[in-house]
Amino acid sequence: MDKLSFRPFHPDDLSACAKFAADAWPAVSVLVPGQDVVKLMHGYVELARLPSTWLEVACVSGRTVGLLFGRVNSNCTPASELRMLFSSLGLGCKAIRGQYGRLQKPLTLLRKGVATGALVKRHSPEADAVVELFVVDSEHSGRGIGRALMDRFVTAAKRKGARVIALHTDQSCNWRFYEKYGFKRRSAFTEIVSSYLEGQNVEGYIYVIETDDLTVGLERR
Ligand SMILES: CC(C)(COP(=O)(O)OP(=O)(O)OC[C@H]1O[C@@H](n2cnc3c(N)ncnc32)[C@H](O)[C@@H]1OP(=O)(O)O)[C@@H](O)C(=O)NCCC(=O)NCCS
Repeated sequence: MDKLSFRPFHPDDLSACAKFAADAWPAVSVLVPGQDVVKLMHGYVELARLPSTWLEVACVSGRTVGLLFGRVNSNCTPASELRMLFSSLGLGCKAIRGQYGRLQKPLTLLRKGVATGALVKRHSPEADAVVELFVVDSEHSGRGIGRALMDRFVTAAKRKGARVIALHTDQSCNWRFYEKYGFKRRSAFTEIVSSYLEGQNVEGYIYVIETDDLTVGLERR
């Protein structure tokens, strides 16, 4: 494989990230029929960025091919939480102005999104860190890039004192990666937003890993 490198996410990465997120989740196209899904996914990547304190991309020969956004609670401060609140309002305004496309039934989506958020909260354990968004360009998947991105996040979170890392995923995602990596499934439930997008019942999952049980990343070498 050409040279693999990692660096912090930069706003210039947004288009590449939105493109491979759109490829990974084609069902989102029902939200913007006849429109550019990549534009919608710009908003999705921006949304995942808001709560994240770890924003990293993987590059192959300088080209952005993957990302992992995560949140490490010990890195959060009242100021960062306030910034997140203001940024959320800004994102909401951009969405209302149509910057991410004209959403089909936006209020239905909002209602289902809020219900999903509540369900995820109810099923999630107390965690010190959370994976918010994790995608590798399908052209580059299966070559160890996802594992390397996860190793780097888990190592950084562990160094910051995180003992429990959790994430929410569902059947429309590559949840098997997490099992292979060592995450354990904590609970399963009907995923409201994904079931709406896919037009069929989709199971949602909460996965958890305890860093004390794990030798990862830099420590494994
Ligand atoms: C999840 C994802 C980021 C993994 O990235 P990747 O670069 O393809 O993964 P890797 O090549 O690093 O795989 C790491 C290991 O997991 C294994 N693995 C990955 N997907 C697997 C699957 N579906 N079933 C079984 N094992 C799998 C690989 O074989 C590899 O095993 P190894 O280390 O023993 O060789 C990528 O598949 C992806 O972007 N999927 C679409 C978006 C998504 O579902 N994101 C996560 C859920 S929110």
